[in-house]
Amino acid sequence: MAVVVSSVAVAAAAAGAVQAASSSGRVGGQVSSLLFVGKRVTSVASTRTVQRAARLAIQARLGSRKRERTAYMFAAIASSIGFVTLAAGAVYYRFIWQMQGNGEVPYSEMLGTFSLAVGAAVGMEFWARWAHRALWHESLWNMHESHHKPREGPFELNDIFAIINAVPAISLMAIGFFNHGFVPGLCFGGGLGITMFGMAYMFVHDGLVHRRFPVGPVADVPYFQKVAAAHQLHHADLFGGIPYGLFLGPEELEEVGGQDELQKVLNLTYKVRTGEASLLGS
Ligand SMILES: *[C@@H]1O[C@H](CO)[C@@H](O)[C@H](O)[C@H]1NC(C)=O
Repeated sequence: MAVVVSSVAVAAAAAGAVQAASSSGRVGGQVSSLLFVGKRVTSVASTRTVQRAARLAIQARLGSRKRERTAYMFAAIASSIGFVTLAAGAVYYRFIWQMQGNGEVPYSEMLGTFSLAVGAAVGMEFWARWAHRALWHESLWNMHESHHKPREGPFELNDIFAIINAVPAISLMAIGFFNHGFVPGLCFGGGLGITMFGMAYMFVHDGLVHRRFPVGPVADVPYFQKVAAAHQLHHADLFGGIPYGLFLGPEELEEVGGQDELQKVLNLTYKVRTGEASLLGS
């Protein structure tokens, strides 16, 4: 139990404040587990020696982590700007420009597109929850495993899933864009919804939880902090891997009685953020 608690604690603390000692960095992760054990059970080793080793390892890791985060940040920002620009242009073309032809406002089509965009974004959470449990952690584990191991470089094999999800999204948007009518309007909305979910997932999952790039104000949203804590419990494997979804992760945990553990992770993250507790000691 102590090991489990300390791994959760380290995951939370690492995500909360000590970016260089992130649990996804091999050196940082191992050292911070050592440190945590070292802080709690002083008889295990000389705390000071462990701390000195930790500082050196973290300094060495800092340089390459920073480069990786910068690389991913550019990828995230470029893809977001690219998508928002394309989507805005496509929506404008589809509804405003087309309308000027015959002067009729296609209300039902607009409503269909909008509803399906929202529906697809919500549906993606449930699809991701199912696929993550039944596929990624089963037959596709070979690819997903890279996400549960320390990452070497800015990208991991698991990132291929993001590209795979882009195929139906782009196809649906293309069908919707190049065809007139209600059903193509629905396809268009579905593609937009999948892509919006993908962008939100990238910022909250890759940026906020795994600290692959700085997310600025996203990190200050209380609900996202709860989502991040819940996802850390997925990585700690405390409740048989639950939660498998991301945005409704806190709710999934509640269903299996995990709200106390969730609160513990949140409390620890809060303490590290506010400097009440530190992995590096005083
Ligand atoms: C979290 O912190 C609050 C306020 O500091 C405290 O009341 C609560 O018992 C803590 N919860 C857990 C599970 O540690």
